[in-house]
Amino acid sequence: MVSREIIQGIHWVGAIDFDRRIFDELIPLPDGTSYNSYLIQGSEKTALIDTVDPTKEYELISNLVKLNVDRIDYVVVNHAEQDHSGSLPMILEFFPDALVVTNEKCKDLLIAHLHLTANRFRVIRDKETLSLGDRTLEFFLTPWTHWPETQITYLREDRILFPCDLFGSHTGKSDLYVTDEAEIYPSAKRYYAEIMMPFRNSIKGYVEMVKALPLAMIAPSHGPIYRRPQFILDAYADWVSDAVKNEVVIAYVSMHGSTQKMVEHLTDALIARGVTVKPFNLTRTDIGELAKSLVDSATVVIATPTVLFGPHPQVVYATYLANLLKPKVRFASVIGSFGWGGKTVETIVKMLDHVKVEILEPVMVKGLPDEATFQALNRLADDILKKHRESNIV
Ligand code: FEO
Repeated sequence: MVSREIIQGIHWVGAIDFDRRIFDELIPLPDGTSYNSYLIQGSEKTALIDTVDPTKEYELISNLVKLNVDRIDYVVVNHAEQDHSGSLPMILEFFPDALVVTNEKCKDLLIAHLHLTANRFRVIRDKETLSLGDRTLEFFLTPWTHWPETQITYLREDRILFPCDLFGSHTGKSDLYVTDEAEIYPSAKRYYAEIMMPFRNSIKGYVEMVKALPLAMIAPSHGPIYRRPQFILDAYADWVSDAVKNEVVIAYVSMHGSTQKMVEHLTDALIARGVTVKPFNLTRTDIGELAKSLVDSATVVIATPTVLFGPHPQVVYATYLANLLKPKVRFASVIGSFGWGGKTVETIVKMLDHVKVEILEPVMVKGLPDEATFQALNRLADDILKKHRESNIV
């Protein structure tokens, strides 16, 4: 991978992982990803902002060598997760005078995860600055823009923000910059859902803080650089807001067709009432797309057969994940079929303890759904529409 000059003295020196298909052994990556690392050369000092995943460390070193970089003074670490920090041991070996510039909490995590020695660190505090001569780095501590130690770095003179994970997208494309905002929007939204959504309340404040900075570019450590920062700031302002849409996500599994029939009936009933419906068959769906749909849907319906005594295991997985991601969904219900009994509804409702939802009357049927079941599903659709209208969700 070749390095690219952003402006005089600032280069992208990272790596693009076109082939990666899963992250943290959890998040599907249909489009791969990138690990962006940025070289900033000031009149007196040189800094590297974030490194790359250790599988790509030779690409980072190669980029630096090709640029004839023979000295790095500071390696700024915005986040300790290994996709940004895993090449640090090699970089510190290659540049023996370089200091790791980060906050105290990140230092602790880097020592724990990478066994770095304490004498290689320069610890910074919130809003502290670091001069590179004619360029100045300013650091802002932004806990929970993924992990508790995260920070963002602002290059004052050039008005470039380096927010690491925040505002990123898992997009392994060769373009350095966003060239098509319509194309990047779903990737950025999906990334927000998978990584940032659990911290929505903290991120609200960070978005406001960043909006107040003079900004020419936002250069995250995954995905392309934004040369129109307002685009991604406006998108985040919408996603972190309390507003939800007149949408219902139906996450379902059907073993012998009964739950499928119920899902189809409820889908039609909601469409007939003017509600947008997003059904996801969990045996086939990309779980990242389900997460993205949860960013602003008002209601989620979990639909499942009863396996032995409770929900289908794939429904358990999706419900557990949705609960972890803490979407701002306001209403939830459970529908499905059972053979002889079980505690399906209770199990699912108990699993939603992180999500502040009002549970609407579940619809469970023994065996095949009948006319009474369909009437109950019509009532659930009425109830959902009524709740949306009462909450001014349009
Ligand atoms: Fe891109 Fe939280 O690491």
